[in-house]
Amino acid sequence: MGSSMILILTLTIITCTNLVLAHEPSPLQDFCVADFKSRVRVNGFTCLDSKQVTADHFHFRGLHIPGNTSNPLGSFVNRPTVLEIPGLNTLGISTVRVDYAPRGVVPPHRHPRAAEVLTVLEGTVLVGFVTSDPENKLFSKVLRRGDVFAFPFGLIHFQQNVGENDAVTIAFLSSQNPGVIAIANAVFGSNPPINADVLAKAFQVEHDLVNKLQAPYKL
Ligand SMILES: *[C@@H]1O[C@H](CO)[C@@H](O)[C@H](O)[C@H]1NC(C)=O
Repeated sequence: MGSSMILILTLTIITCTNLVLAHEPSPLQDFCVADFKSRVRVNGFTCLDSKQVTADHFHFRGLHIPGNTSNPLGSFVNRPTVLEIPGLNTLGISTVRVDYAPRGVVPPHRHPRAAEVLTVLEGTVLVGFVTSDPENKLFSKVLRRGDVFAFPFGLIHFQQNVGENDAVTIAFLSSQNPGVIAIANAVFGSNPPINADVLAKAFQVEHDLVNKLQAPYKL
């Protein structure tokens, strides 16, 4: 075997090992509170010296406070991630509260790094997710107070308040930093915009309609 072959093999093994380790592995210590000051870059954050760790690193205040839903979507998302709760670092979990005005929506979106389980605290909420190509099957349900619904890893999902009063949900996600890709924002509101002809072909519509869909993002 040539030395270049050995080098390639070695690199492959190193790359694969990193990929396995990169997915929020089982902890090797009690906790690894994020050290935002460290210059070392890893997948997540390096660990703060455990002697400096206090209860505050695991604490966040205010998830009982209703969000302001006076906006075009009629919803408000309060999503403390590892940046707000440094103790979440490496735990592979986080939480989110959503408030909804009547008819308020969390528009179709996906979390590139997480599955989600959602509970309705108040109100009546329509939820759904769509499976991947080629089936694109919709799984949907109207949830009432106390109902729980799971959104599988990475799939497109949405929520809407279909009741007459305000609604509140709380959810847990399987990442310290789940990320959000709002489909409409990504497709029609990218910066710079995706070429209108690409979108016209993709959606099988006229350029005028693509321009209309892109317009709100160009303000
Ligand atoms: C809610 O947001 C709207 C729109 O930004 C603003 O006019 C209003 O004052 C806010 N309400 C509260 C209670 O902050």
